[in-house]
Amino acid sequence: MERSEATMPVATTTRWRARAFAGPADFARMQALQRESWRRVGPLSESHPGDLEWWMYGLSDPDPAISTRICLWESEGGELRGWSWIFRGELEWFVHPDERDLELREQMLDWHAATQAELTPGGDELELSTWSTTIQPELGHELARRGYSDAGHVLVHFTQELRAKADADPAPALPEGYSIRSVAGMTDLPQRLAVQRSAFAPSKMTDERYARVMTAAPTYRPELDICAVAPDGTFAAFVLCWYDEPSRVGLFEPVGTHADHRRLGLAGAVCNEGLHRLRALGAERASVLSNGENEAAVNLYRSLGFVEVMRSVEWTKRIPRQGDPAAVEDPA
Ligand SMILES: CC(C)(COP(=O)(O)OP(=O)(O)OC[C@H]1O[C@@H](n2cnc3c(N)ncnc32)[C@H](O)[C@@H]1OP(=O)(O)O)[C@@H](O)C(=O)NCCC(=O)NCCS
Repeated sequence: MERSEATMPVATTTRWRARAFAGPADFARMQALQRESWRRVGPLSESHPGDLEWWMYGLSDPDPAISTRICLWESEGGELRGWSWIFRGELEWFVHPDERDLELREQMLDWHAATQAELTPGGDELELSTWSTTIQPELGHELARRGYSDAGHVLVHFTQELRAKADADPAPALPEGYSIRSVAGMTDLPQRLAVQRSAFAPSKMTDERYARVMTAAPTYRPELDICAVAPDGTFAAFVLCWYDEPSRVGLFEPVGTHADHRRLGLAGAVCNEGLHRLRALGAERASVLSNGENEAAVNLYRSLGFVEVMRSVEWTKRIPRQGDPAAVEDPA
C-alpha cells in the first residue's frame, strides 16, 4: 500500500528514518533486534522473536495493509533502532536497548496517531492504546503526560533459567490413559485447532491461521508443538514453544487445556515437557507472559519454576479527530 504524507512522520529532521515494512527480510530484522535485546538485557526485553511469529501467523490473517501498519526506524547508517506495529488496533513497539531517552518512543506515538487515523477513518474519536513496562516508569509518565490513562490490564513477564535445572527432574505423572506427543503435521490440524479453540473460547483461531503457523512461521518446529492426548485420542492440552537459537531463549506461546480436561495436571505436564525439550536443544532460558488477572495461568507458571521479572501495563486514550480544515466554513 502506498503511504500518504500523513503517515511519514517527521522523518527527515531527526536521528531516525521511518520506513514502511517491506516483507520477510524486515521481519527477520525486527526479530534480530529483539534477539539483540535479549542478549543485552535478558528477560527485561518486552517481547521475544517467537511473539512476533505468533502475532503475524497465529493471530493475523494475511494483511494487504501490513506495510502501513509496521514501521521500521533506522539510523542514518541504516541500522534498525526500533519498530512499531499497529496490531489489532494497539501500538506494539520495540526499541534498541541503547535508545534510553524517550525521543524515539515519542515519534512512534506520533506515527501511531497519524497512521491509526488513516487506517480507521470515520467516527468522532480516535482510540489509541499501547503498553509500557514497569522497568521503564518514565515511559509511563510520558504516556500519562500525553493524556493516556491506565487501562487496567497488566501482563506479567515470567522467566526461568534452564541451565540450573537438573537433568533428571522427574516428569510429572500423567492421569491414567493420557500421553504426551508432538503435533505430527497437517493431519493433526483439526485436533490441534479444536483444543486451541476450547482453551481460548470464544477463540478467533481458524484452520487457515494455524496452518500458516505450521507452514509459514520461520521458526515453528513440530517437536515444540506439544500436546497431551486424552484416552479417547483427542488433544486435551497444549504448549507451543518457540526457540530462538541464537539467543538460546525459549518462549511458551500459547498454553491451554481443553475445558473438559482441566485441573488434571495436563498443562503442567506439557509445559514441563516443553522445558525439557527446549533445554535439550540448548536453551538457557525460558520465558512466558500471562494476563495478571489470569490466576490459573499465573499459578501454573509459578508452579513450573518461573519467576516474575516485570509487568507490562496497558495505556489508552481517546482523542477527537481533527476536522478537515477545508471543510470548516469561513464565517466572513
Ligand atoms: C491455565 C490453564 C492452561 C491451566 O491448565 P490445567 O491443565 O487445568 O492446569 P494444571 O492442572 O496443569 O494445573 C497446574 C497448576 O496450575 C494452577 N492452576 C491451574 N488451574 C487453576 C485454577 N483454575 N485456579 C488456580 N490455580 C490453577 C495450580 O497451581 C495447579 O496446580 P495444582 O492443581 O496442584 O493446584 C487452563 O486453565 C486454560 O487453558 N485456561 C485458558 C487458556 C489460558 O488462560 N492459557 C494461559 C494463557 S497465558
